[in-house]
Parts: sequence; structure tokens; C-alpha cells
Amino acid sequence: MAAFSELENLERIADSLALQGWMVVDDFFDFELTAALRRDCQMSSAQGDLREAAVGGGERRQIRTEVRGDEILWMQQPASSEPQRVCQDRFEQLRLTLNRALQLGLFEFESHFARYPAGTFYARHIDQLRDDGHRKLSCVLYLNESWQPEEGGELRLYLDGDGVESEYVLPEGGRLVVFLSGRFAHEVLPATRERISITGWFRTR
Ligand code: OGA
Ligand code: MN
Repeated sequence: MAAFSELENLERIADSLALQGWMVVDDFFDFELTAALRRDCQMSSAQGDLREAAVGGGERRQIRTEVRGDEILWMQQPASSEPQRVCQDRFEQLRLTLNRALQLGLFEFESHFARYPAGTFYARHIDQLRDDGHRKLSCVLYLNESWQPEEGGELRLYLDGDGVESEYVLPEGGRLVVFLSGRFAHEVLPATRERISITGWFRTR
């Protein structure tokens, strides 16, 4: 199969979002960038910089491992390493392409590393916090090397309200998933090994 150019890839994402509201792109980040970001995340984790993720915002914010068991580290802007700068740059290119193609008015990108220890999960949820509809588009970029189907850890994307139709995405390194934040409930299934990713949201004002 012919490889797509960088811009064609971004435009394919815009087309899919317009058609169905979600898309999975393999090798959005190449092997080297993926490996470098994985090392950043693992180093931060070893230094104790990741924090248990909370549920809810403001006064409703709380740690509930029966809902989500990941640990996160928000990415800084400007980026704190060269791979993270390249990463943020790619998401900026995506933001500009989507705004041009779909007039989404995406204004900023917030993102964090996420690490799910083996056996942890994130129960079914929607990415828009109550009282805050500013998260328009959810992005998840996986950082795991050679993920095997039997290791579990799929993202389950509920394509309809009642869960009859779902898309299951394995968290293979370099793979990007994007979906409209307000439209798709989703969950992270438990895995038999550590599962790491970058999760981000494009926001409107
Ligand atoms: C999230 C989330 C999905 C994934 O962090 O909100 O749903 O596949 N992550 O990691
Ligand atoms: Mn989510």
C-alpha cells in the first residue's frame, strides 16, 4: 500500500471525523518518537512524578480506583523534552488541519502521560466533565512496544448508546485514536502488562 504524506494523513483524520466522528490511525508517530516518549514516561514514573488520576472536577474531584486506576503526568508547555516538543508540534498540525477542514474552532491542546499498572482499568465514561463542554476532541496516542491481543488493555469505544456496536482498539505503540469527546462513551479494559499512553484533548474557548 502506498504511504500517505503527512498532510494527507491529517486530512484523512478530518474526513473520518466528519463522516463518523472517530478514527484510528496506525503509525501516527514513528517507532523512534514513540520509543523516546515511552522512555520519558517511564523515567518520570521511576522518579515518582506520576500521580493517581482523579475523577470529576472542582469540588467533585476524587481518587476512585474502582472507576480508574491510572497514574498521570500533565505535559508542560513549552515542552520539557525534545520528543515532547515534537509530539506537541504534531498535535498542533492536526489542530490547524481540523480547524481548516471542519471549522471546529479548536483553540488549545491539553495532554498528559497515562500509565495503567497491570490489572487496572478505566470504567465506561465520557470525557466532558460536568459543567464543562470545552473538550471537543479526545486523542489517545499509545506508547507500548509490540502489544499482543491476548494482553488485553483494549480501548472500547461505544459507537451507539446501548453498547451493541463497539470498536475495540489495542494500545499498540504509535497508534492514534481520535473521537468527538461529547459523543462517544468509552472504557479501558484491564491488561496483563503495564499500559502507557498520551491522552489529550482539543478544547474550544
Ligand atoms: C482517558 C481515556 C483511553 C485510553 O484517559 O480519558 O479514556 O485508551 N483513555 O487510554
Ligand atoms: Mn476517556
